[in-house]
Amino acid sequence: MLSEVAQQELNQIVSKYPDRRSTVLPALHIVQREKNYLTDEDIRMVAEALDLSVTETQAIVGFYSLFRQQPTGRYLIQVCTDLPCALRGAGEFYQRLCQRLGLPPQGGTTPDGLFTVEEVVCLAACDKAPVAQINLEYTEQLTDETRDAIIAELRQQSAKAAEDGAQA
Ligand code: FES
Repeated sequence: MLSEVAQQELNQIVSKYPDRRSTVLPALHIVQREKNYLTDEDIRMVAEALDLSVTETQAIVGFYSLFRQQPTGRYLIQVCTDLPCALRGAGEFYQRLCQRLGLPPQGGTTPDGLFTVEEVVCLAACDKAPVAQINLEYTEQLTDETRDAIIAELRQQSAKAAEDGAQA
C-alpha cells in the first residue's frame, strides 16, 4: 500500500505516457523510494498498474542494480572497490568503514537500521577515487576524516528528521 502522495505521483506518471512501458522505471523508483525496497507484492502491483507481466517487471528489477529487493538501512553506503579505487586504498577504506560502524568485514546493516554498507563495482568516477555513493549521491576522494564527518552528519540528519517527525 502506497501513501496517497506516492499513489498520486504514480498515477500522474502513468497518465503522462501513452506507452506504459516507458513508465516502469519511474514507477518502480517511486515505490522503492517510499518503501526502501521492492517486495514481490510491490512488483506485482506495479506490473498490474502498467499492464505488464509480473515476470517482465521482475526481470527489470533484477537487471537494474539500483532496485533493491532486500531492506536496507536509511543510508545506503556503496563503496566502489573496483581496481582504480582499490589502487587508491578503497579496500582498506571499506574495511575501516565497516569496523567504524561495528559491521562485519563484508558489510551489512547496522542494528539501528541507519546504515547499510556494501561494495560495488566502478561508479564511473575513477579520477576521484576512492569513491562511494550514499543514497545514490556521490562522495569522492574519501579519507577516514571525511568518513567520520559523513557518518556524524548522517546521524545528525536522522536525529533531526526523527525530532521533526515527533513534533508533527
Ligand atoms: S573504479 Fe571506483 S569509480 Fe571507477
